[in-house]
Amino acid sequence: MKILLTGGAGYIGSHTAVELLNAGFDVVIADDFSNSSPEVIRRIEKITGKAVSVYHVDVADEKALEGVFEDNSIDGVIHFAGFKAVGESVKIPLAYYRNNIGCTLTLLETMEKFGVNIIIFSSSATVYGTPKALPLAEDMTTGPCSNPYGSTKLFIEQIIMDAAAARKELTAVLLRYFNPVGAHQSGLVGEMPNGIPNNLMPFISQVAVGKLARLNVFGNDYPTKDGTGVRDYIHVVDLAKGHVAALNYGVKNPGVEVFNLGTGIGYSVLDIVNAFVKVNQIEIPYVITDRRAGDIAECYANAEKASRLMGWKAGLTLEDMCRDTWRWQKNNPNGYE
Ligand code: UFG
Repeated sequence: MKILLTGGAGYIGSHTAVELLNAGFDVVIADDFSNSSPEVIRRIEKITGKAVSVYHVDVADEKALEGVFEDNSIDGVIHFAGFKAVGESVKIPLAYYRNNIGCTLTLLETMEKFGVNIIIFSSSATVYGTPKALPLAEDMTTGPCSNPYGSTKLFIEQIIMDAAAARKELTAVLLRYFNPVGAHQSGLVGEMPNGIPNNLMPFISQVAVGKLARLNVFGNDYPTKDGTGVRDYIHVVDLAKGHVAALNYGVKNPGVEVFNLGTGIGYSVLDIVNAFVKVNQIEIPYVITDRRAGDIAECYANAEKASRLMGWKAGLTLEDMCRDTWRWQKNNPNGYE
């Protein structure tokens, strides 16, 4: 099967490309490289020993996207392309709605035009909004989201569900990611945030490599075991394998299905810092600061549905996440440059 990955040069897309190629799928990547590097493609090919077809296109550009579908007999699509910075989305919400929703509409229309009937969508646990109960299960109510980025994910889920209701041939698997961290075990692909990282793990690894002086721990007065925020961190390679499982599931089970991709385990900020220090034998200086606006105390998944229906379960540990993050950071202090 030939699978198109929109945004396939990004953090999660690149790891998914590796797992798809390893599982015997052909991979076509469409990416505008606005937040990724063409070097990623060479790395994917090095890890897998297989070739990837790459198109430098904006997925919202209808003519350019049609060219990709004309050149390739696409059997299914995994849709990663989109802006993803929470803070930025608050400052330029219209750009987020225009880009994330616009490119999804173009993609769905193009898929219909070319008779492509399966889409896996890169959604987020952020669609649950402030958790009403924990762990978060797929049948719990969604929204309202605390920022426009999250709202684009929620609205796109709805758009895909409406498209699938109107066109019965369309199968969709919506994947709600919890907190992806880590890097491929080869140390060749990993996360490359622009500027100062917003997320915890890349911030820690940049402190470890000496690019940042210390970690700010955003609050230690939450109602959690040690007062710091608790999240469900999932190794990006497990997450990538979740996409292969979702594709195999969708091929056999027409319709629309939603899955959490998480481990079901909550770790605090200090758990992550302590594990990173222990596994990598490196100091991470930190200070406790005020809470970050918009943060919630705890968020973790009920991961049972994905295990029951898709036979997928996260297998890598917090130690794996810390070790693989550090290997990637150490080997690539300036990302893909
Ligand atoms: N944190 C710090 N210091 C930092 C960065 C983060 O203490 O420098 C803390 C946060 O307060 C939080 C935890 O580390 O308790 C995790 O924060 P991240 O920014 O890594 O992740 P979030 O859970 O805030 O956000 C993630 C994704 C979003 C997604 C959201 C909800 O990055 O894309 O989960 O699913 F929207």
